[in-house]
Parts: sequence; structure tokens; C-alpha cells
Amino acid sequence: MAILHGLAPTAIERCRVLEVACGDGANLIPMAYAIPGSEFVGFDLARLPVERAQARIAELGLKNVRILERDILSRCDDLGRFDYIIAHGFYAWTPAAVRDRLLQLCGEALTADGIAFISYNAKPAGHVRSMIREMMLQRVEGIDDLRQQVAAGIEFLRFVAESRPQQDVYRELIEKELKRLEPHDPGVTGHDELSEAYEPVQFTEFVQHARRHELAYLDEAVLPPPTDPVYREDVRRFVDGASGGDFIKQEQLLDFVRMRGFRETLLVRAGSKIERDVSPQSFRRLLLASQATPAAAEKPGSRSFVLPGGVRMESNHPAITALLEKLGNVWPSALSFQEIEPMLAENGLILDSDGAALLIRLAVAQMIELRSWHIPVAPAISERPKASAYARQEARMHGFATSLLHTRIALEDEKTRHLLEAMDGSRDRGGLFAAMSAAFPEMAAEELQKGLEQSLRLLQRAGVLEA
Ligand SMILES: C[S@@+](CC[C@H](N)C(=O)[O-])C[C@H]1O[C@@H](n2cnc3c(N)ncnc32)[C@H](O)[C@@H]1O
Repeated sequence: MAILHGLAPTAIERCRVLEVACGDGANLIPMAYAIPGSEFVGFDLARLPVERAQARIAELGLKNVRILERDILSRCDDLGRFDYIIAHGFYAWTPAAVRDRLLQLCGEALTADGIAFISYNAKPAGHVRSMIREMMLQRVEGIDDLRQQVAAGIEFLRFVAESRPQQDVYRELIEKELKRLEPHDPGVTGHDELSEAYEPVQFTEFVQHARRHELAYLDEAVLPPPTDPVYREDVRRFVDGASGGDFIKQEQLLDFVRMRGFRETLLVRAGSKIERDVSPQSFRRLLLASQATPAAAEKPGSRSFVLPGGVRMESNHPAITALLEKLGNVWPSALSFQEIEPMLAENGLILDSDGAALLIRLAVAQMIELRSWHIPVAPAISERPKASAYARQEARMHGFATSLLHTRIALEDEKTRHLLEAMDGSRDRGGLFAAMSAAFPEMAAEELQKGLEQSLRLLQRAGVLEA
């Protein structure tokens, strides 16, 4: 995002990263594993998750990551300065002094080109969440056990909803919140809904807070999705008129239209030269990737592409179809803009504002992914495939693994989990087959072979295999 806005952030391959309140390092450790030339530091107040993180780091033998037990309110000047500071799930759930200390730390410890990523609960949807929280807190008074508290709180919410007439707005609001809470583990609900502090903020309040620490708003960490009102002509016209051209006010007005409840905001040092419109030349510093695959087109002369989740896009623009085809063939690897520029130009896409707008539209639709570094993923299945040691460690611990692309892969199937563990780089296809048949003797050889090939392809496309 910083590159798109004309800034020059420190290269991912050689940077220092701090994660505040990193918990058990589930975000930090896989990054440290994938980016060995960079240094990662994390801290958290809670001892147990920190100890778990330290044990995992020791087992993996990583030397570029440290996770410490520490209170953010204590001195942190021994940690040095950082190109990237991350604080996820922290700002809205901590008391005012802690929130303030976080932004103060960003102001002190960010390098000149540094970027902070802060997620927080936003208003107006935060109001609804506060209401739900207040109702649950009332009900749990006198109950000590967290799980019982959560059960009692949810039961009360259900009682209130069902006491209201059908199609009543209040009932629907509570039912929607209950749907949000239902899939969560009670521990997560206990932390998120019943914690001591909960302070959603308006976007403008957050930006003002950041300004007090000499920090400026860059953008959100991800582009708004295709359904966002920012792309609607009528909304844009109103917001532009009502904001007097103030970008921050525009975003706040849009948050009311969006009924926004969550932000992942990027901050930079005040005074950074942020280009608000995407600069076309910034694409020269980016890599492009796409996991879209060709599918049957409906209109003659068009080509169709589909994402793993089923989203389709049909286009007859020769540059777009050529681009998606070329990128799809190399996924999970990426190509630099320079590598595809001649092909795009031949098909009528040059890097002017129209060309840049087209590329951004593809990124918004998630048909392409913009990256700023070459992720060390295997471009194909090698003779002795090696899954990342981090993913193999996770496969032993639970039903998911983090890829080198930093995405989470569900490992519901026991065979995939077993295969992942066996892919330590020492086995060729025959060795992997032998390991799988020893673990699943009841399976027919042919079926096992077919499953092995499918899973290998799946894990390679998911970015779990190392280059
Ligand atoms: C919701 S969890 C988020 C953890 C992690 N960032 C994540 O997204 O999974 C909030 C974390 O903040 C930590 N925390 C709360 N107050 C803190 C403080 N004063 N200093 C450091 N960590 C703190 C808690 O221990 C907890 O791990």
C-alpha cells in the first residue's frame, strides 16, 4: 500500500519488525521463517503464550526472531527502531493509557520510512458491539468461570431477542450478533466481549490520536472490496461535496455509510509525502501474482477466469486475459511488472492512469495480488518436495498450517496432514508413497497414489512448499 502511494518502505527481505501483543507468535514466527534476512521482535504481557512461542522458535532453530514477556507500559527503548510495527486486536481492548502508549511507541520506534499496522474496532458498528457487551456483562455478574459467563451471556442475548416480535429491528440486530458469536470458542468470546476495556473509536478520533504522536494516516492494509460504497458514483459525489475535499473526513463519512466496525489502519511518520491517488509508476516496484484459473466463457470473444472461492470474471480485454493467463501459470510465484510490461503493451495496456486504474480494479476483485517481494515458494513440485518446517510443526499441533504466502490452510484431512509432515525434503515421490502406505495400510495403492498427487499439487499451489 505504501508503494502504491508513492512511498519507499524498507525492503521486506531486510527489515526489522516489531509485533506488540504478539500472543503465541502465530503471526510473527511464520514471517520470521519465510524471511530469514529480516529481524523480528515480539512481546506480550501474558507469560504462557510467550513461553509457547519461545518453545516453537527453539524447536525450529530460528535465530531471527525473539519473543519476550513484557508490558507495553514498561520501557521499550532497548528494542531499537523498526521498519514495521504491528498491533492486532489490541488498541480497542486496552485501557486509555495502554492505547496511548502504543501510539507513543510507534512515534518513537518507527524508522523514517517505517509503517505501523494497527487494527481496532470502529464506530458506528462498535456501538452495537458495546450494547451487546453491556447486556452480557450485566448478566454475568457473580459468575466466576469464564465459560459459564459466556454461556450465561449468550443465553441472555437469546432470551432478549426471542422476547421481541418477529421482524423487529432490535431482535434482528441481536440475532445478527448472536450469529457472529456462535462459531467462536468461548475463550475468544470471553476476551472479545467481556474484557475489562472495550473502546471502539471513530476513524477521525483514531487519526487525531495518531497525529498527537506525529503519525499520519496512510491507508487501510487492504483495498476496499468491490461492494464498498467508495466505488459508487452517488456516494462519491455526496462524500466529496460534504467533506470539503478533506480525505480523512471522506473516510469517516464513508464509515457511516459502510456501518464500519473494524479497521486495519496503516500509519506513517507525519510529513511523509503520501500521494493520495495511486501513482501509475508505482507498479514498476511491484510484483503481480494471480491464482485465477481459466474457465469456460459465456460470451463469444471473452475469456473467463475463476478464483478458488468460486468468484468468476469474464473479460474481452486482450491485456487482462493475457495477464491472468500468464500469472495463473506461475502461481504461487509472482512476476515483476518489468517481466510482463512488453506483453501488456502489445495488448494495449500501458502504465498511464487508465492502465493503473485497470490493474487496481483487478486487485480489488482479487483477480491479481500485488506483492513487494519474491516469496520463496516452490514454483513447481520438486524431486524431493520440502514443506516449510513451520507448516510441518503446525501440522503436528493442530488442524491448520500457515503457508509461506502467510495464508492459513485447513488440514481437516488426516492424509494431507500426514503427507505434509513427511515432506521434509528427504523423500522423493517413491519415499512419500512408502511413508503414506505405511501410515494408511488399509488404502488401495492406486487410490493412495492418486490422492498423493492431488495433495502435492494442492500444497504446492497453496504455497506450502519451499523453493
Ligand atoms: C486479543 S489478544 C491479541 C493477540 C494477537 N495480537 C492476536 O491477534 O491474536 C490481546 C493481547 O494483548 C496482550 N496485552 C494486553 N495488555 C498488554 C500490555 N499492557 N502489554 C503487552 N501486551 C498486552 C494480551 O496478553 C493479549 O495477548
